Amino acid sequence: MYTNVWYVAARSADLIDKPLYVKMLGSDFVLFRDKKGNAVCLNNVCPHRGASLANGTLSEEGYISCPFHGWEFNGLGKCTRMPSIGNEDPNKAAPGVKIDHYPTKEQQGLIWTFLGDDIENASPIFDIPEESDPNYTVLEHDVIFESNFHTAKFSNLDYVHLPVVHGIRFEDQDNPYRPPPHNVKRTDYGLTAHIETDSTPSEGEWEDIREKGSRVKSILKYFTAGATLRGEVEIGSINSGQFNAFYEFSTPINQTSTMMRYYFFRNFMTDEKMDDFALKRNLKNIYEDKIIAEAQEPKYGPDGMPNIVGRYEDTILKVYWEIMHEMRDKGWQIDNKKWHQMTSEGEYCVVPSIDRKNSKEKWGYPMIPRLENK
Ligand code: FES
Ligand SMILES: [Fe+2]
Repeated sequence: MYTNVWYVAARSADLIDKPLYVKMLGSDFVLFRDKKGNAVCLNNVCPHRGASLANGTLSEEGYISCPFHGWEFNGLGKCTRMPSIGNEDPNKAAPGVKIDHYPTKEQQGLIWTFLGDDIENASPIFDIPEESDPNYTVLEHDVIFESNFHTAKFSNLDYVHLPVVHGIRFEDQDNPYRPPPHNVKRTDYGLTAHIETDSTPSEGEWEDIREKGSRVKSILKYFTAGATLRGEVEIGSINSGQFNAFYEFSTPINQTSTMMRYYFFRNFMTDEKMDDFALKRNLKNIYEDKIIAEAQEPKYGPDGMPNIVGRYEDTILKVYWEIMHEMRDKGWQIDNKKWHQMTSEGEYCVVPSIDRKNSKEKWGYPMIPRLENK
């Protein structure tokens, strides 16, 4: 798992007028809305005696009160009130009491949180052009994969499994199980890959819009922000202008489970009556992938590619690992072994925040350890 990434913490609709507990990167966060309605993200563990702030209440000022002794914190994690000392200044009574807070951005119907201490060097949140295009209609779906997030990601970031798992064959190849060359490129946001092929026409209602033997193009993009995969297929054929595009945002809950949130956009058959069918079609592949991912070993996810296929088949994964290893070499990867050891000795650790980097003061809980940068 990596710090210094913008992750999707929740959908906007999930955060109304109560605090919301969210587990990410194996750590605990609370989301709530301040007085202006802006989303706030704090570490969930009270610096006094460790109660869960998500079980607390929100004040009229939009601050959060701990459910144990009522200490109140603002959106920047500063203690604003301690009921037991009345109107006295809490920062005099208990100097330096504060909570790690994490920047948030609310866009595309999602609440993004920046989990780390080096925001300047992180990959920014990207645009979703379909969102503002009136020709598109969108469907949503959320599902937890009980697998490590690399494993969950690989279940889709890959052309080679398509014929085997999903029955999508590459009819123009001598071997319909071998996808055409992938054309993978490293980009500033992550990577992009595309293939052009004659593929098996879709079954069901979408069948009508693809002529057998026509060529289709499929483009995959991986964005570091949100560990997001975008997949696009021009579903009729090249130049048909009929696109099915999905976005898969992945947030590690912990090392062995991953929150997968989806947007499915389409600009054809946009009538609401087609929604059930469209959702079913999109989910078919995802739930086929889920079965594979959840049964895969090792459970804590691979780190690299010991079994690379020699030609181009695994090029996407090779580039994916280059991106991951760059993050590791910047010192952003969580050191699970060390963390596990600290936890087993009774420590509670917190995802490092920007405030922590800028402040030499003592914090209540230590930081989650990260692998040394090279
Ligand atoms: S544990 Fe939160 S105020 Fe005491
Ligand atoms: Fe898949």
